[in-house]
Amino acid sequence: MVKRILFVCLGNICRSPAAEGIFNQKIKERDSENFFVVDSAGTGSWHVGNLPDRRMRATALSRGIELTSRSRQIEENDLYEFDHILVMDKDNLDAVKSLIKDDMNPVNSKIKLILSYSKNSQLDEVPDPYYGGQDGFEKVLDLLNDAIDELIDNLID
Ligand code: 4NP
Repeated sequence: MVKRILFVCLGNICRSPAAEGIFNQKIKERDSENFFVVDSAGTGSWHVGNLPDRRMRATALSRGIELTSRSRQIEENDLYEFDHILVMDKDNLDAVKSLIKDDMNPVNSKIKLILSYSKNSQLDEVPDPYYGGQDGFEKVLDLLNDAIDELIDNLID
C-alpha cells in the first residue's frame, strides 16, 4: 500500500520543501520510491507558486539535494488525501488542526511534529530560518535529516 506523506510549514518555501527533498532522496537511496507519495504545503499563502527560497535551495544543493517544488497552501482536502501530515512547529500544528471539522476526528492522529521522530535533538520544533543567517538553514537540514531517517524507518517497518 502506498503511503501518502505531507510536510507542512508556514510559507512552504524553506522547511517543508527541504523535508520533501530529503525524504525523496532517502527513499530513492533505499529503492522505496514506489511505496510513497510525497508533497509539501504551507499554512500561509504569501508564496504560492514560488520555488523554495534561494538560500534554502543553495544550502540543500550543497548537500546534493535539489529542491524544485512550488509553494502551495494546505487545504481541508489534504487532511483526507494524506496518511501522515508532519509539521515543523506548534504554530503549524495549530493551523493544520484548525482545518479539522467536528466530524473529522480520526484525522487528528495523522498530524504530528516532525521532530517527534528525532532521537538526537532535544528540540521539538524546527526553527523558522527565514529571517536569520546561513547557520539557520544548515540547522534546518541537520534536524530534518535526523528526524526523517527515523520517520522512514518507522514507515517502512
Ligand atoms: P517556511 O519559512 O515556513 O519554512 O517556508 C518562512 C517563509 C516565509 C515566511 C516565513 C517563514 N514569510 O514570512 O514570508
